Amino acid sequence: MFNLVLFGPPGSGKGTQSENIIKSFELQHISTGDLLRSEVKHETPLGVEAKKFMDQGQLVPDEVVIGMISSKIDAHPDSNGFIFDGFPRTVAQAEALDKLLQFKETPINIVLSLIVNEEELMARLINRGKDSGRSDDNEEVIAKRLKTYHNETAPVATFYDEQDKLVEIKGVGTVEDIFSAISKEIEQSM
Ligand code: AP5
Repeated sequence: MFNLVLFGPPGSGKGTQSENIIKSFELQHISTGDLLRSEVKHETPLGVEAKKFMDQGQLVPDEVVIGMISSKIDAHPDSNGFIFDGFPRTVAQAEALDKLLQFKETPINIVLSLIVNEEELMARLINRGKDSGRSDDNEEVIAKRLKTYHNETAPVATFYDEQDKLVEIKGVGTVEDIFSAISKEIEQSM
């Protein structure tokens, strides 16, 4: 099994690059953002609760997200491995993921961190907001999401750096060039 965390701030290209990675490397994509938006769309109790946090640019509580990830991993016992996109987002989530994977005897192999400056992130997300229909793609909520990223999510990079798993990738440029840099790192680590 090969497990990859695609890490980076809102708008850094995690979703875009995940689509390319799953095609080339046949990994199972787990995006906590997509899972939560599906719960919101179907107005499940979890979705109704999560929406309050998402619309404020805040993180959904750890226990909710960790529970979702655990059942998603269990649902794919024969997978070649997973791409975790938008997870883990707190050190508590990273520790919980290590425990879940330890139990399955399949660790995280590599963490690819997409590096994009804040001006570019804001421009990309405002542009996406014109037709994404996402309630968090407006200037006010994007600014809150970026703040949440710096305060709560950025420490996750240090967590993986201490395990020698973190690799930084320049996330500005064409989608193709960035994917090529990502592919090189995955191939070296496989
Ligand atoms: P989530 O859905 O994970 O959003 P995010 O991390 O804010 O990331 P985005 O999806 O906005 O960006 P991305 O990095 O995937 O970039 P994309 O490829 O789309 O989370 C949403 C909310 O859910 C959170 O705020 C939180 O409330 C909750 N949540 C989710 N996970 C959670 C967790 N683990 N714990 C707690 N709460 C959680 O690209 C962005 C745009 O840029 C697109 O329009 C794309 O076309 C464009 N683009 C991509 N690459 C390039 C490029 N190279 N050049 C130019 N444009 C590009």
